[in-house]
Amino acid sequence: MPTFQPLEALLTDLLRAAVKTLAPDAPLDTLAVERSKPGRGSDFQCAAAMQLSKVLRKNPRQIAQDIVAAMDLQGLAEVDVAGPGFIGFTVSEAALGRTLVAQLASPTLGAEPGDGSTIVIDFSSPNVAKRMHIGHIRSTIIGDAIRRLGTWLGHRVVADNHIGDWGTQFGQLIYAWNHWRDDAAYAEQPVEELERLYVRFHRDAADDPELHDRSREELAKLQAGDPTNRALWQQFIDASRSEFDSIYARLGVDFDVTYGESHYNDMLQPLITELLASGVAVEDEGAAVVYFKDEEGEDAMTPFLIRKKDGAALYATTDIATVRYRMAEWSPSRIIYVTDMRQQLHFQQLFATVRILGVDDVQLDHFWFGMMSLPEGAMSTRKGNVIRLEELLDESEARARAVLDERLGDDPTWSEADRAELATILGLGAVKYADLSNNPQTNITFSFDKMLAFEGNTAPYLQYTSARTHSLARKAADAGLQADGSTFRADDPAERELALHLFAFGRAVTLAWEQGKPSILATFLFELAQRYHRWYAACPVLKGEDAELKVSRLNLNAAAQRVLSEGLGLLGIRVPERM
Ligand code: ARG
Repeated sequence: MPTFQPLEALLTDLLRAAVKTLAPDAPLDTLAVERSKPGRGSDFQCAAAMQLSKVLRKNPRQIAQDIVAAMDLQGLAEVDVAGPGFIGFTVSEAALGRTLVAQLASPTLGAEPGDGSTIVIDFSSPNVAKRMHIGHIRSTIIGDAIRRLGTWLGHRVVADNHIGDWGTQFGQLIYAWNHWRDDAAYAEQPVEELERLYVRFHRDAADDPELHDRSREELAKLQAGDPTNRALWQQFIDASRSEFDSIYARLGVDFDVTYGESHYNDMLQPLITELLASGVAVEDEGAAVVYFKDEEGEDAMTPFLIRKKDGAALYATTDIATVRYRMAEWSPSRIIYVTDMRQQLHFQQLFATVRILGVDDVQLDHFWFGMMSLPEGAMSTRKGNVIRLEELLDESEARARAVLDERLGDDPTWSEADRAELATILGLGAVKYADLSNNPQTNITFSFDKMLAFEGNTAPYLQYTSARTHSLARKAADAGLQADGSTFRADDPAERELALHLFAFGRAVTLAWEQGKPSILATFLFELAQRYHRWYAACPVLKGEDAELKVSRLNLNAAAQRVLSEGLGLLGIRVPERM
């Protein structure tokens, strides 16, 4: 069985070999063959001749012709020279066939495996005693997709849910709990009640600053290990985690560890002492601060506060300790943080600080994302920008069900259970895809109508395309035919287009992973679906007499099916077999 090799890589190798014979000293690294822009007339092209014309002091068209003459293409492609010296390649049918067969046989569908190194992904990370807000929704969905990409590429991924389970808010909560709690409400909806208490504390404390002193006393007791306060704290965490877990289960998201901020608690004061002793941090009116100075001694960035005047450690301090802990525990080659855009400065400060501390053998990435908003009036939001994820998912599933019922009418082959199952798959898929299909660094506005449409760049459109590949395979099976991965002929332009697009799957996966942008994969899948439908319309699969052509087309269908379902799977989106 041939191994899958991207055609552009094969062509690039041949190109460089030819250039080497013509100009042994020419720089080869920057010469590359790429997929041609649509309408160019060739499948791949390269601008090497233009790049070389300075070095070789020759006209680029002449260079292109020389390269073409020196290239031994081994039947891989036809070649031509166009315009000022673009070399164009039109891949032979035999090469297309071989590549598709190899892709179908490849366990990663042609994606190049990673180096197996360990990568920590810090995502979701909601705060205890508060409902997950929209920022955590995006972090959960985007982080999970990034995790799936890394795992698929063969990395050892550690998914760490860095929940906010420590800090000043616990003193406030305990105070509020002791004075204002509603036991019945807590029994019914614990986290909602905790959130109410938290909000009440802040409202009342605005008029009565004394409350802050009271809450600090509770915090001090908690920190000193007072059994009553410890037990309350643990109870708040358990209640919150069980609510988070039900959301994660519904979304199909899980974690390898959930250490949370409290895990690092005992490391914070020694860390502060160490940073002060080594001069990385300095005392400033009782607080401890890391300054980032440039060569002129000016502040290069806002200083990083790691201890407040009252001696308390902060979010920042915890994050420094966390990096250290992760390095010691897993020796990752990369740590990825997924949070909203408001934390950009925090992570710049954090990364700069840990570099000062000498941690330099790890790549640190903050993949931030923009804000998400909902169409006015579409949702019952409890208050302000707190949008409950469950409500969002319920609404999406209900709407998906309505859309489905309208499409399916009273079709008796669709049972109640099947409809409910499909509505779940579509409703969840739509929410995830509406998020993942956008460049993360843009703000998004949800529109249920748009995200549940069966046309356009939506989850239902992609899921429907996948279902179509299955229905075609079922029809073929009824006629005694099936894909066997043995052969592929590309005799129609729509067929070539689809196959050439499929070959780019691995590249889309790799780019999406490297840049932390699942949207790159989403765009690839959308373009795949469009090409699939064009092919489906242009190339009848089961008509005619040519048995080998039928199998060839079923093989292409099978490749599209696998790439679609693996690709959507990498986005955490399930595909139905019929819809
Ligand atoms: N709990 C934080 C928040 O809700 C997010 C934590 C992100 N991870 C980290 N290591 N700082 O904003």
